[in-house]
Amino acid sequence: MTGLLEPRAIGRGLTRRDGPAKVTGTAPYAYEHPVEAPLYCHPVQASIARGRCLRISGVEAEALDGVRALITPFTAERLADTDDAELAVLQDCEIPFRGRVIGLVLAESSETARHAAELVDVEYETDPFAAELIVDDPGLYQPEKVNPNFPTDTSEGDLDTASAVTVDQTYTTAMYHNNPLEPHTTMALWDDGVLTLWDSTQSVHSVRSTVAKTFGLPADRVRVICPYLGGGFGSKGMPHANVVLAALAARTVPGRPVKLALTRQQMFSLAGYRTPTIQRVRLGADRDGRLESLRMDVVEQTSRIKEFAEQTAAPARMMYAARNRSTSHRLARLDVPVPSWMRAPGECPGMFGPEAAMDELAEALGVDPIDLRVRNEPERDPETGLPFSSRHLVECLRTGAERFGWSSRRGGRRDGPWLVGSGVAASVYPAKRMPGSSATIRFGKGRYAVEIGAADLGTGAWTILPQIAADALDVPVDSVDIRIGDTDLPQATVAGGSTGTASWGSAVVAAAEVFRDKYGTDPGDGDEAQAGTPKKPADKQYSMYGFGAQFAEVRVDADTGEVRVSRLHGTFAVGRIVNPVTARSQLLGGMTMGLSMALHENSVLDPRFGHVVNHDLAEYHIATNADVEDLRADWLDETDPHLNPMGSKGIGEIGIVGTAAAIANAVHQATGVRVRDLPITLDKLLPGLPR
Ligand code: MOS
Repeated sequence: MTGLLEPRAIGRGLTRRDGPAKVTGTAPYAYEHPVEAPLYCHPVQASIARGRCLRISGVEAEALDGVRALITPFTAERLADTDDAELAVLQDCEIPFRGRVIGLVLAESSETARHAAELVDVEYETDPFAAELIVDDPGLYQPEKVNPNFPTDTSEGDLDTASAVTVDQTYTTAMYHNNPLEPHTTMALWDDGVLTLWDSTQSVHSVRSTVAKTFGLPADRVRVICPYLGGGFGSKGMPHANVVLAALAARTVPGRPVKLALTRQQMFSLAGYRTPTIQRVRLGADRDGRLESLRMDVVEQTSRIKEFAEQTAAPARMMYAARNRSTSHRLARLDVPVPSWMRAPGECPGMFGPEAAMDELAEALGVDPIDLRVRNEPERDPETGLPFSSRHLVECLRTGAERFGWSSRRGGRRDGPWLVGSGVAASVYPAKRMPGSSATIRFGKGRYAVEIGAADLGTGAWTILPQIAADALDVPVDSVDIRIGDTDLPQATVAGGSTGTASWGSAVVAAAEVFRDKYGTDPGDGDEAQAGTPKKPADKQYSMYGFGAQFAEVRVDADTGEVRVSRLHGTFAVGRIVNPVTARSQLLGGMTMGLSMALHENSVLDPRFGHVVNHDLAEYHIATNADVEDLRADWLDETDPHLNPMGSKGIGEIGIVGTAAAIANAVHQATGVRVRDLPITLDKLLPGLPR
């Protein structure tokens, strides 16, 4: 395909443009944007899992010095639109999950607001509730589709085929919470009928459209600003209650900015989470290891008030060449907070069961797990029949194996107190581009300014969009300035689904082309051009994914069961790499999060009370530096001509996919214990360790 950019700035490991502002503490985050005389809010949360509040007394709270108001369902302004029940806060007294916001204190300091919130007295009426995911929940139902828009169930071929070698196992992944460094924060100001929000968000434009709808405002009366974020992983991909609460509070004090920052503990009920999953995986293969059937049936949860159906079985549909395939998703509707996006929804949990099952199949067949995958490499997408725009999984497995030293792998090796083993798993993530972004390019005083309302989660958009613009304009990258993160800039789609670079970059390239057509190579001050992401004609012609192979070496203490991941190496085929510095960081970050999922992360929900008991970073364990030893990510030289002018694929999420399976497979090789329920903790290993 013509239309691929000649990479000059693209491919260079330029350091982050936002780096100096961040490390010197001058990058204004949502909560820190300098304003005059702000007020502070603190939410009051329900302490029952289901029922309603009958009475809310703020007598004591309002008596505190500096408290300006207590807003409750009895006093709050009615929202114009309450279709999204997660966002319809303080609109009625019903409590659909423990932690639901039932009041909001507004005070002169954050400490006062928080203190006052604790003094609010609530009288409840309680209803029976269910907060535990169980595989045979009688209320399981079949959702109409799974996130974002996939069929719930699929079935093809003859599933009763009897195969020579079979695996039939159930795997589970835990409930997980996104814990970006920066919590969910919003600052709101109503002035002259215009609402300005400084919000920590992956999409200023979707916050604007949601808030405008919720409050019944025209979109041009809402402005959302977010130049910098301290992470999000999907939890800031759509607005949560904090945004509506801040806006509601600000409306009561026109002209005064209002600040709201969720506490770490509040994030465990108000900012989404990854649903736990129960995955039954059935594989059938002939003696040569060719898959004859592949079935995956998933049970997972959603909330009573809003459906989110994680597409856990989606990757199983396209991964391997099994003639007979079926997948299904069933949901339990529970009295729990609303699940949502977390890095690689679908692929992340959905590649745990199947990739562990492939390891079990390889063992049953007595073949190398890499060979097994190679033997089942499909020529076309098994689900759609379309050719892949590019698929280099086999090359990732082989190259990665060489770099990792897979051939010298020996099972159950002992090194002093350690049992040592290694494992492999495949990674996959869709390579998408969303329609609906546009960019402006402006020239002045010898410099080009690129404007687009994109978001940089910490991923590198500040740095790589100028690289793309520079190549599209054929100018040096240091003559390109960039402005992002503001609804006053051209519309941009969400930094989600690993689509940011592809979507915004395509708009930037289109704008550059229009600019050059209009003004040639010698533009004058004030010349500007705007264009949107073009439609991608290849969408219906190719199946488009990035692939990878992850290799883990683990050491398990033979006496205590402690697991150390001594080596974790990933080799990826993810299109052309726009910036190797920021790209490597994304892949390593994803892999670290996968390691964390394998060994540590687990939101422990107490079914007696309906809340996550380990709702802070002291007890919700996330991998730290000490957990990460030899961690490496590299990539093949791949350029996909069918996706976008950069030849790139999204890389924000694929790093987390497959990691947990690689580690579980390594733990099995080291110890002989097959842990099918994440996380892999001591209690699951100890009974099976060799004596
Ligand atoms: Mo990502 S979970 O698509 O922000």
